[in-house]
Amino acid sequence: MVNMEKIINLCKNRGFINLSSEPYGGFSSCYDYGPLGVELKNNIKKAWWDEMTKKHDNIVGLDAAILMSPKVWQASGHLSAGFADELVECKKCHKRFRFDEIVNSKTQTQNLKCPDCGGEITSPKKFNLMMKTFVGPVEDEAAITYLRAETCQGIYMNFEWVKNAMRLKIPFGIAQIGKAFRNEITPGNFIYRTREFEQMEMQFFVKPEDADKWFDYWKEQRMNWYLSLGIKKENLRFHEHKKNELAHYARKAFDIEYNFPFGWHEIEGIHHRGDWDLSNHSKYSGKDLSYFDETTKEKYIPYIIETSCGADRILLAFLIDAYSEVKGGRTKTTKSTKEIEIVLKINKKLAPVKVAVLPLLKNKEEITKKAQEIFDALKLSFVCQYDEVGSIGRRYRRQDEIGTPYCVTIDFQTLKDNTVTARDRDTMEQKRIKIEELKEFLEKNLEI
Ligand code: GAP
Repeated sequence: MVNMEKIINLCKNRGFINLSSEPYGGFSSCYDYGPLGVELKNNIKKAWWDEMTKKHDNIVGLDAAILMSPKVWQASGHLSAGFADELVECKKCHKRFRFDEIVNSKTQTQNLKCPDCGGEITSPKKFNLMMKTFVGPVEDEAAITYLRAETCQGIYMNFEWVKNAMRLKIPFGIAQIGKAFRNEITPGNFIYRTREFEQMEMQFFVKPEDADKWFDYWKEQRMNWYLSLGIKKENLRFHEHKKNELAHYARKAFDIEYNFPFGWHEIEGIHHRGDWDLSNHSKYSGKDLSYFDETTKEKYIPYIIETSCGADRILLAFLIDAYSEVKGGRTKTTKSTKEIEIVLKINKKLAPVKVAVLPLLKNKEEITKKAQEIFDALKLSFVCQYDEVGSIGRRYRRQDEIGTPYCVTIDFQTLKDNTVTARDRDTMEQKRIKIEELKEFLEKNLEI
């Protein structure tokens, strides 16, 4: 059974994710991605980018700045009460909680007790989540700005420019991947809720009367994307926001939730933002951000359907979903029946390492030389690892643990007939393949 401790250990031990500022004991729920983590995250981002911008020819990309005029955040409503969590503190143990996390509809809000020690808690206080900073050398009021709390505001700032430059007609979308920052009161559950995270957001601009239709379309598209990348159906569900859960900008919202070891939680939001953003930015900036339809001669503020997910949060969901253990082991190297083999059955497109090249013996020069040649021939096309340390079984296990789809082994037969074996991670089936056909075989099976 997967739990967070196992996932955190795998991430730490195999170079996926580590605490930020580790020599200082970590910092403020921030995390660093190591060699395998960065490959996995890049693969997730690429899969999303391809899905959005290649599959849909009316969606284009953008990379806007993290720092923007503070006026953006006034207009968007993020500096007011709408983008604030309610914070409570235990008067006895002084632990802080988000009010909405400890209150439920059945509880009397007046008699709330600390979930940890049962102490009395303070009344809730609003706490704004924007991360403040200063631009320039003088740290006064005039120099205050904010690290963006959602990437989509950069898209609204460029709506007019991108539409005109690319001659886009409604409906169309703009997609962006980038860092966002929130001064979360209760970060936690590893990379699930952090103060610095990466969002993948797409804003789809539509005619107001078509908004509901597009909302349903994107809801379905986004759920299918997770399923197409192998997340188990039973671990995904929709959650519709009730009126009191809706963000300040949303008219309607559905979360896609994943069944984490710590419960069902949001990984992506599909939001009907109506004309909230473009109307407010028109009003605050004085620049008319309405759309003119050349064919019908209609002028209107487009409605926005947003799909918004966190790259870090879904990476965690992909890791948890792919994690499997085989008790007693499935390879001969597992000596004890108590020993457990980990197999990360992650979608091949997302796997951080695609191919491992393994000489059967490390002290047989003809074999290692050949293996090195094969590694050199493959490494520019696939993320590869060369490994000659330990028994072949141990090496297979190391690769299974990080989800490498294929292990290519160079053995004595290779020296006779120029063939190698390609071992499939999931079936453990070994196929003999001619070296000259190996690249094609891998491309085909890795769907590259
Ligand atoms: N633009 C809309 C928006 O930002 P959100 O529901 O606040 O909506 C969207 O965030 C997604 O961003 C979430 O579903 C989650 O995947 C990710 N996200 C939000 N806050 C996060 C945090 N503190 N840490 C990690 N990911 C976060």
